[in-house]
Amino acid sequence: MREILVTSALPYANGYIHLGHLVEYIQTDIWVRAMKAQGHQVTYVCADDAHGTAIMLKAEANGVTPEEQIASVKASHEADFSKFLINFDNYHSTHSEENKQFSELIYRRLNDAGHISTKDVEQLFDPEKQLFLADRFVKGTCPECDSPDQYGDNCEVCGTTYDATDLKDPHSTLSNATPVLKTSKHYFFDLPEFEQFLQDWTRSDNRLQTSVANKLQEWFEAGLASWDISRDAPYFGFQIPDTPSDEPDKYFYVWLDAPVGYMASFKNLCDKRAGTDQALDFDRYWAQENEHKTEVYHFIGKDIVYFHALFWPAMLAGSELRTPTGVFAHGFLMVNGEKMSKSRGTFIKAETYAEHLHPEYLRYYFASKLSDKVEDINLDLEDFMQKVNSDLVGKVVNIASRSAGFLVKKYDGMLSEICVESELLEDITKTGDEIAAAYENREFSRAMRLIMQCADKANEYIDAKKPWSLAKLEGTEQEVQDVCSVAINIFRQLMVYLAPVLPELTNNAKAFLNLDDLSFASRNEWLLGHKINKFKPLMQRIEEKDIEAMVEDSKASLAQADAPAATTDSKSAAKNEASAEMNTDDEQTDYIGIEDFAKVEMKVAHVLECNHVEGADKLLQFTLDVGEDKPRNVFSGIRKFYEPEQLTGKKVICVTNLAPRKMKFGVSEGMVLSTGEPKTGLTVVTLPDACVVGDVLA
Ligand code: MSP
Ligand code: ZN
Repeated sequence: MREILVTSALPYANGYIHLGHLVEYIQTDIWVRAMKAQGHQVTYVCADDAHGTAIMLKAEANGVTPEEQIASVKASHEADFSKFLINFDNYHSTHSEENKQFSELIYRRLNDAGHISTKDVEQLFDPEKQLFLADRFVKGTCPECDSPDQYGDNCEVCGTTYDATDLKDPHSTLSNATPVLKTSKHYFFDLPEFEQFLQDWTRSDNRLQTSVANKLQEWFEAGLASWDISRDAPYFGFQIPDTPSDEPDKYFYVWLDAPVGYMASFKNLCDKRAGTDQALDFDRYWAQENEHKTEVYHFIGKDIVYFHALFWPAMLAGSELRTPTGVFAHGFLMVNGEKMSKSRGTFIKAETYAEHLHPEYLRYYFASKLSDKVEDINLDLEDFMQKVNSDLVGKVVNIASRSAGFLVKKYDGMLSEICVESELLEDITKTGDEIAAAYENREFSRAMRLIMQCADKANEYIDAKKPWSLAKLEGTEQEVQDVCSVAINIFRQLMVYLAPVLPELTNNAKAFLNLDDLSFASRNEWLLGHKINKFKPLMQRIEEKDIEAMVEDSKASLAQADAPAATTDSKSAAKNEASAEMNTDDEQTDYIGIEDFAKVEMKVAHVLECNHVEGADKLLQFTLDVGEDKPRNVFSGIRKFYEPEQLTGKKVICVTNLAPRKMKFGVSEGMVLSTGEPKTGLTVVTLPDACVVGDVLA
């Protein structure tokens, strides 16, 4: 029996759980359940990631203390996870005593070993709010192309990256005040010292997926830098211990104590279980000398690889703790082929989904899409409905509903004493080994394909035997019972195979089948001379109207927050180190009033010309007829997504009342409307040819 500790990334305590998050928690939960079903001792822990500036500001905006803020978010996260049947063994918080202890322990060990140094850092400071500003909280004019209103890390018009201190006319997005430069002492973790260790670690023992290891190679080539692990007050987090008493307090940067939260949650569980027959030994999982006795796996999204595959193992190795056995990254969720969008109603909260649709539908759909690769996965709502209806309702549940009736009515629920199709049943029992391996290798889509092939075989068998016709003939009692018994036995195998994905459905099936075990091994014993119970429908079809209602609900609750994003200026989702404590998914929306939005004038424009711009790898140049005396010259940062030919001759939307912008390559006299995110893809909004150039769009 293997002893395995599994984690999912800790969600931030400043927002709700949405379907994007659920890719990860569902993936992990399925893996954990599958490994448990194969007889291993698996422990699954998680926690809320409760520290950082974003959470502090959110609490302030809500008029509550950070402690109150994180307590209410934690309760809502736990409620959402439980609806989606995510079966954590423990759910804790990084704002906990255990986490403080371990963060301090790790820091002290790193410090004692000489891996911590200090350096003065000059940073923008908000004199009104009295705090240092992360890049996300500063906006100003791009030093390179003079575009106004750019964030402190990079310009979304010309693509230049720079330091926030290079911005012209900077202002704080928190108070609008002009930031001042201020110096303070920062604490650094010496990551470069670990380069050799990390090079080996990331490339050995299959710890990482190939594409992740390759990405890391690029980072090694670019050179590792020391990591700034301190933040100045005010900050919601743990104070750094042992700093000079005559100097201002320093706090651990949220990303230092966040992964330590995995250990803290596990420790909290060890304490809860102490003295029970489920007791766990903390050191067995985390002491360096036990590294090969137990296994530790982290499931994460692709955006946080840097933290889990570089900082975290270096921190652990540097403080003489064990490092993870594996880090498994997944891609991001797309809905209907695009990044989730609030205005289209495809930015869906877990809670909203669960009000309209059964969580197991989504678990199955994600399972049918997930692989061991770091690929984005697409939730196509039409395909979702069809797949669930045809696979689960049409194929799987149908096997039981077609055969249980006869058995219960005519044979008092008794299955035959013998199996008349042992070859077929053996085949399906054997496929179970491949399915188990696919689960273990996180090839869930392959597992689902194999399971559906088994279901197809069962349905073909029933179609060929036609028990409903047989039952009408004389002297066929035994045969009808035999055929239906084969079907029920196959159905039982399918329940075993689907249990990690559909815990509730298979649990109900367990009652119907009169079984107390659905472990993988249990399928080797076929159900002969076994009594089953009355069949009750196990799953309803998805109805189009439920999906529509969910989308409408999502639009209603979130649409306004998306309005400013429908321009070429929509914020970059880049999650670099400086902005990493923010949510990736547009949580930091700057609201504008409807009056502001109404001021925007948009006209139908005809693309007369579209060209590359020499020396600008982000821009396309447009010559647009907007029904005026003279065509307009407009630049747009979409070169990555279009060839000029694709847009030439098209009807597009031009924002016509923006002040002209002087850029490095000329003056831009408007903006071409597109949707999406500069990081993941922008789509230019095109209009039918029949639209009249110069018409104002209401
Ligand atoms: N708090 C950090 C993780 C700290 S782990 C020590 C964080 N939180 S998060 O709430 O932004 O994201 C939690 C997890 O959900 C991350 O692994 C992230 O990649 C994943 N996802 C968040 N949005 C997602 C999608 N839209 N699609 C798929 N996964 C996404 O990062
Ligand atoms: Zn610029």
